[in-house]
Amino acid sequence: MTLLDVIEKKKRKEILTKEDITFWIEGMCKGEFPDYQISALLMAIVLNGMTDEETFALTDAMLNSGDSIDLSAIDGIKVDKHSTGGVGDKVTLILAPLLASFGLKVAKMSGRGLGHTGGTIDKLESIPGYRVELSREEFIQQVNEVGVAVISQSGNLVPADKKLYALRDVTGTVDSIPLIASSIMSKKLASGADFLFMDVKVGNGALMKTIEDARELARLMIEIGKHYGKTTICILTNMSEPLGNAVGNALEVEEAIHTLKGMGPEDVMELIIKIAGLVVSRTENISLEEAEQQCFKKFNTGAAYQKFEDMVTAQGGDLTKLEISKRIFSVRTPKAGYIAAIDTLGIGEIARKIGAGRFTKEDKIRYQVGMVLSHKVGDFVKANDELLKVYLDDLDVRVNDILDCFTIQDNPVEAQPLIYEILE
Ligand code: URA
Repeated sequence: MTLLDVIEKKKRKEILTKEDITFWIEGMCKGEFPDYQISALLMAIVLNGMTDEETFALTDAMLNSGDSIDLSAIDGIKVDKHSTGGVGDKVTLILAPLLASFGLKVAKMSGRGLGHTGGTIDKLESIPGYRVELSREEFIQQVNEVGVAVISQSGNLVPADKKLYALRDVTGTVDSIPLIASSIMSKKLASGADFLFMDVKVGNGALMKTIEDARELARLMIEIGKHYGKTTICILTNMSEPLGNAVGNALEVEEAIHTLKGMGPEDVMELIIKIAGLVVSRTENISLEEAEQQCFKKFNTGAAYQKFEDMVTAQGGDLTKLEISKRIFSVRTPKAGYIAAIDTLGIGEIARKIGAGRFTKEDKIRYQVGMVLSHKVGDFVKANDELLKVYLDDLDVRVNDILDCFTIQDNPVEAQPLIYEILE
């Protein structure tokens, strides 16, 4: 067999066998195939799709391409959460310590920003001193003692995904549901948790632009989870406007801290309570209402914030040194009306341009820059009202580029739902 045979087969819309897929992934990891052949196969998959069986085989081959984390030395129920990526998504920073405050064990490996979307690891690195790399022993010990640790993905966790993702990023082959599902699930399965919670973002700032696609991605991830005996719950949530108000690393940490103290923006609070409520009701066998009530208590008593502080301290971070840029200006609307839409991808790209994200792997993040939105979709604004504040260092931004991200109209608009549906 050659990789060309596999490409030809997928081009003819034939179903690849487990052997075909294993041959591809194993050979790729050994460096036996040129990038142009791997890219051609990826494009054939994007165009012709994959069956569930092919996707299971791909997930399996990717999972077997590197190390898996053994969490058996951690006592208790190990939960993991993943978001398919968005703008202003600081959920992990809040959810992980909140769940740990219930005694659940959160041994979480997170990623860096990708394209216009932010990454939890970059956000945590905005806390001076925070170590995103812990040895395996330190990681396990911290989860046992504190209940939560959030670190970056270990070097050899699903190396096949690293190779494939880098190629997909530059060959227009990211937006394939089987490729996304196998990429995400191979990493989650390698991370060893018992219970997986997936936040599938939908909208103009997300990878999935329609509910139908998000539903299909969720279905496939749940099927993969089932295949491996893992409870997988997916929640489909709105990413047609940034989540919360803050976009940018240190600003999002600050907003996460407010939320952990029970004073976060409404949408962030709602989403966290919903996700944590679902996880806690399942793992503790209590009703959803009771679980949600208990989540509020964890905020109000300071227990959730204390877990966050304990985690940060254990990982060497110093929250008193969190820095937000002092070069701030307001962007104001020239006209009155209702905010009908926010171009979330556009906001994410502007955040990236002012230094909150990267354009090349080598780019250094400017942790203290970003934006804080003053309004959500559906709000009424008067002429000259502030739409958002920009926090800059030495890079500039064009005000018109920001204004272009807001659609303001005369007629009222219906507020968008934050949570579309829950699938399991
Ligand atoms: N996130 C991932 O980890 N992989 C994808 O393919 C898309 C989003």
